[in-house]
Amino acid sequence: MERQYDFIVIGSGIAGLFFAQKVASLMPMGRVAVITKKSETESSTNYAQGGIATVMSPTDSFEAHVADTLTAGAGLCHSRVVRAIVKTGPDVIRKLVEIGVNFTAERGRFDLGREGGHSTNRVVHAADLTGREIERALLNSCRRKKNIDIYRETIGLDLITYEYRGQRRCGGIYTFSQARREFTSFYAPVTMLATGGIGQVYYNTTNPSIATGDGIAMAYRAGARVGNLEFVQFHPTALYSPGRKPFLISEAVRGEGGILINSARVKFMRKYHPRKELAPRDIVARAIDTELKEQGEESVYLDISHRQSAFIKHRFPNIYKECLRRGIDITKEPIPVVPSAHYVCGGVKADLSGRTDLEGLYVCGESAFTGMHGANRLASNSLLEAVVMADYAADAAVPFRVNNKFPDIPPADWWLHSSIIRQKEKVAVSYDRLFLRKLMSDFVGIVRSEERLKMAHERVKVILKSINSYYFSQPASIGIVELRNMAQVADLIIRSASRRKESRGLHYVIDYPKTDDRHWKRDTIIKPPHFEIPFDKIHKRRKKNG
Ligand code: FAD
Ligand code: SIN
Repeated sequence: MERQYDFIVIGSGIAGLFFAQKVASLMPMGRVAVITKKSETESSTNYAQGGIATVMSPTDSFEAHVADTLTAGAGLCHSRVVRAIVKTGPDVIRKLVEIGVNFTAERGRFDLGREGGHSTNRVVHAADLTGREIERALLNSCRRKKNIDIYRETIGLDLITYEYRGQRRCGGIYTFSQARREFTSFYAPVTMLATGGIGQVYYNTTNPSIATGDGIAMAYRAGARVGNLEFVQFHPTALYSPGRKPFLISEAVRGEGGILINSARVKFMRKYHPRKELAPRDIVARAIDTELKEQGEESVYLDISHRQSAFIKHRFPNIYKECLRRGIDITKEPIPVVPSAHYVCGGVKADLSGRTDLEGLYVCGESAFTGMHGANRLASNSLLEAVVMADYAADAAVPFRVNNKFPDIPPADWWLHSSIIRQKEKVAVSYDRLFLRKLMSDFVGIVRSEERLKMAHERVKVILKSINSYYFSQPASIGIVELRNMAQVADLIIRSASRRKESRGLHYVIDYPKTDDRHWKRDTIIKPPHFEIPFDKIHKRRKKNG
């Protein structure tokens, strides 16, 4: 099947939905497709707790927010980008309120939370369910617009590219809907990638199951450069709850006085940083990792029980309820926590309008690499970057659409992926997925070494080669689509990490424990080889296999 739109948006988190509703408003005659691989709300956005960092208090300033962001970023933030995004913060908060987001406020003023690395309270939030509130309001806004169609349970497989005046352009995306068992080619002059992060590439993660790095892998395969993928942020305090759905214990709990203790009940953060529990995230995560290794324990503990019970229940209703459901009363006892893969600072290289190397392809949100976060993201700067960049990208994409016709592309090749509906290889796929995630956690985690990176790369290359050998021709399962992307992203993370011969921000290598500004104060950019879907080979193999 084929469909034509003016704008295609892949992903229904904050970045995709904000972009969709804005282009739909700017161009009421333009048609917008939002494509999302599970239900509309399933996204990292929906689980965000802490909030959006923005300068809202008269005692705060843009300079202070910029300075905190640059300090956390350890020398690699692009300061022009940081300044622009920070300054646009209050404006997008206003737009979100207009759209219907109810942030927590008292007597007409936003309640501002505090998180690690911030020199003052500046996190706008909706209790501890900020993401759910944003998703609700943005989805309502999109559903109200007659020119937006939402395709749920529809996974993007590969971007459609073509040559235009000697340049490679993006003209849409091939998709597959499991529910309708249907392949569709979506064509449009503008494609926005807003597919979120990569947390599922690691075994311990705060991210939901959708976070398999699909957008980054698809863009790379289509010919777009990616950058700074070695900087994977581990959140210091995910609930330690083996075998159960990931659950985050927000940094805001530390902002409200939560204290980290080890199994011997000793407060340990003072050993590691003068800001103790509110030191930047990389420092807190590494400190916990060191304590775990020294104590030989599975978790450390976060204790907020010294605050009044009524305050805890009011400020953290969701964390209180979920912990209680799992047998922990946080008003009375410490919470077992471990660091978990949380956020990727790198992604598809984009300018301040979300433009990538491929004309017609835009990216924003966690899939994008804009330079905002440098080597370590400051807490609650991710939702801020996602919404500001979606706002900027909409302003650039509408004139691009107006000045460009529908792509003139040969007939659809959706059938190329059609083997993925058969499910013979399910066991092999889930085995490889688990193996890959464990490998990345054990070998490419918080503390790295050259030897471990090398060993991990050898194994990832084998998985990637094997998937690529059968992806287009053998019967397989839909899980292959994600495994293919996860293996591609793992390969890119390891290659980026292996290039950087120093430690900086989130990238810590025991062979090079110092930061080396002279040689490495620069981004890690990976240029893709020219990749074409191997149509000829596939035809031949298909004929041979009947
Ligand atoms: P997402 O919200 O992840 O949305 C991605 C969308 O793309 C999803 O709809 C997904 O289904 C879809 N998708 C993916 N692949 C495909 C495909 N192949 N085809 C079709 N659709 C696809 N940041 C903050 O600033 N403040 C916070 O308080 C905060 N708390 C967090 C708490 C948790 C538990 C987590 C996991 C993250 C948190 N973050 C926070 C980070 C922040 O939530 C994310 O970086 C941000 O929400 C990413 O938004 P996004 O729109 O880029 O992606
Ligand atoms: C949190 O609430 O701790 C998450 C904040 C973030 O990831 O920025």
